Parts: sequence; C-alpha cells; structure tokens
Amino acid sequence: MKTIVEKINAEKLADDREMQKIRKAARLLKEGELVAFPTETVYGLGADALNPEASGRIYEAKGRPSDNPLIVHIADFADLEQITRGIPAAARKLGERFWPGPLTMIFRKNNRVPLETTGGLDTVAVRMPNHPVALALIQASTGFIAAPSANVSGRPSPTEAKHVFCDMDGRIPMILDGGPVGIGIESTIVDFSEGTPMILRPGFITKEMVGQVIGTVSMDQGLEIDAATTPKAPGMKYRHYAPKAELVLVKGEMSRVVLAINRLVQEAGEQGKRVGVIGTDETCGSYQGGIVKSIGSRKENEKIAQHLYGVLREFDELDVEIIYSESFSQEGLGQAIMNRMQKAAGHRVMEV
Ligand code: TXA
Ligand code: MG
Repeated sequence: MKTIVEKINAEKLADDREMQKIRKAARLLKEGELVAFPTETVYGLGADALNPEASGRIYEAKGRPSDNPLIVHIADFADLEQITRGIPAAARKLGERFWPGPLTMIFRKNNRVPLETTGGLDTVAVRMPNHPVALALIQASTGFIAAPSANVSGRPSPTEAKHVFCDMDGRIPMILDGGPVGIGIESTIVDFSEGTPMILRPGFITKEMVGQVIGTVSMDQGLEIDAATTPKAPGMKYRHYAPKAELVLVKGEMSRVVLAINRLVQEAGEQGKRVGVIGTDETCGSYQGGIVKSIGSRKENEKIAQHLYGVLREFDELDVEIIYSESFSQEGLGQAIMNRMQKAAGHRVMEV
C-alpha cells in the first residue's frame, strides 16, 4: 500500500483547498480505512470507532495486543451520550473545564461501541482533542474516531508526521501532516467507570488540576515503579515508549548524576558500545563523551515533554546501543515525564 503524506495548514482550514484534504481523509475513514492525523498531544492513528473491522485494522497496523483498548475521539460534547451509559456529574464538570484538551475519560459503554474498539472491555475511553485538524476530521467523518498513538506498538509515540511515516509507511493509505505537536506526551486518563475517579495515566493535566475541579481523585497504584498490582489501563503494563537502545535513568543530586554518567559513558565506550546521553541545557556542556543531546531546560517542563519522544527517536536513527539519561522531579508535569521515561527505560533506574 502506498502511504500518501498530505501537508495541511491548521490555520487555513477555512480555505477550500485545505478542507478538500480533510474531506479526502474523512472519506477513507468512512470506508473503514486508517488515517493518521495530528492532535495536540501526539499523532493519532484513526479509524471509524463504531466499525469493528476498521478498529481491527488499527491493531494490525500497529502490531498492538488485542486486549489493549482504543480511545474514541469526539468533536462535540453531546456525542458523549451516544456511546456511554451514564455520565457522572464530576465527569461532566471535568469535560467542561478541559475539553477540547489533553484529557481522556473512561465511562461504561453502550452497545454502539464494538468490543473490538474497547479491547473486549465494557468501558470506553473518550477524548475531545484540541487540534483544528483533528476536530475537522472527526466532524467530516463519522463523529467517532478511534485513535491510539500512531506508532508501532512499543515504540515512542510520534510527535511529528515523519515519525508516523517511519513506523507506518506501507501500512496505511494517508498521513495528514500538520507539523510538530504542541504537548508531546499522551493525554491524562481519568477513569469514571467505578467509584472514586482514578488517574490511570498521568499527562499534561496534572492530578492537582483534576482535583481542583472535582475534589477527590486517586492515582492508580499500579503505576508505581515497584507496584504489587497491575495497572488498570491495559496499555500501561507493557514496556512502552521505548527506543531500540537500552535506556538507563540516573537519579540523584545533579553534580553526582553528571559524574556518574561520565563514568558510565567511558566504561561503555571501552566496551566498544555506541553511547548516547540525554542531558539538559544546564548540564550538556559537562559531558565528556558519547553523543550528547539536550532534552531542553530544567526550567521548562513543557519543553522537556515536547522533546522527549523526538530525542529517543533521534538516538534510534544514530544506532546508539545504550542511552544514559538524567531524571526529573515528579512535580506537576514532571510526573507524566518520569512515568514515560521510566517505562521507556523498562524501569532501569540507577540511584547515585
Ligand atoms: O493523547 C492521547 O491520548 C493519544 C492521542 C492520539 O489522542 N492517544 C493515545 O492512545 O495515547 P493509546 O492507544 O496510545 O493509549 C490509550 C491508553 C492505553 O494505555 C489503553 O490501555 C488505555 O488508554 N485505555 C483505553 N481504553 C481504556 C479503558 N476502557 N479502560 C482502561 N484503559 C483504557
Ligand atoms: Mg500509545
């Protein structure tokens, strides 16, 4: 299959030329085909969420385990009622505050949503993305678009169309290229399907931000590094967001971290390994060997989130065998950043 990459200008959707591209993509979706498109978090791999065969194609293209459910993307709040059984008042409030935006909420599903879309669960994850291209595409197609991140299962999520092309070339008919995304890590997931609302995946919208709107919210204990329980979101149990190289996080006071990484790089170099270092604007000048990349400034968590997956993919292109990375505070957005880094590292964390 030939994969067409169509550049689209999100600010010019009023132009008929740009809307023609949306209509072409929407036609493919209505026919049950897959289209990758930008959202504000990461690129999504879209399919008609109410068509079981279309959802099935997503699992095939990504090589995704069939028990890992998809997020249904909508463009209109009222559409939430079409696919769920009961919307708790707290969820309504949270949606009113953060939709469209990087928030996914889980509800009990009704019969319109096929089990193929929800990985066999009787709940459904729903999100209204905050990106003009995504919203226009959802509206022009069937209104309900299932979209996981558009990477091959296990690899870092795509934050640019070229990442999608790298993973999906030949597997899907079309990629809408709306340029680099703004946030860079996937949405926060809050489960409203039972009891107290629970965060199943941290994201740009922090626990504090959710708490301010709805009061009590808990965090899935299965997300902790040494958790005794399995995470509730099936996708969170797999090694994920991972580069091809082995990634090791080095944790501790900054000057000790830099010393330790320098020593580790030297040792790996002596073993003939190609080594990468993930540093920050503040520390990059202090590394003496290996291929050093800055993930951004420690003063700007948003930038670190935005660059994370791109940096991991850049190291893949350089055929690095092992990457040593600094780690970050778990405050605010830092919680989501560290959650993704720990999973990418398969929990290889070194305390110094
Ligand atoms: O930002 C995002 O959410 C991106 C963009 C494209 O919207 N999408 C995304 O989808 O990250 P995906 O499939 O890569 O991750 C969805 C996560 C998985 O961990 C999955 O297990 C979980 O959501 N999930 C989906 N439906 C669920 C459900 N009914 N119950 C529990 N977890 C669910
Ligand atoms: Mg994903």
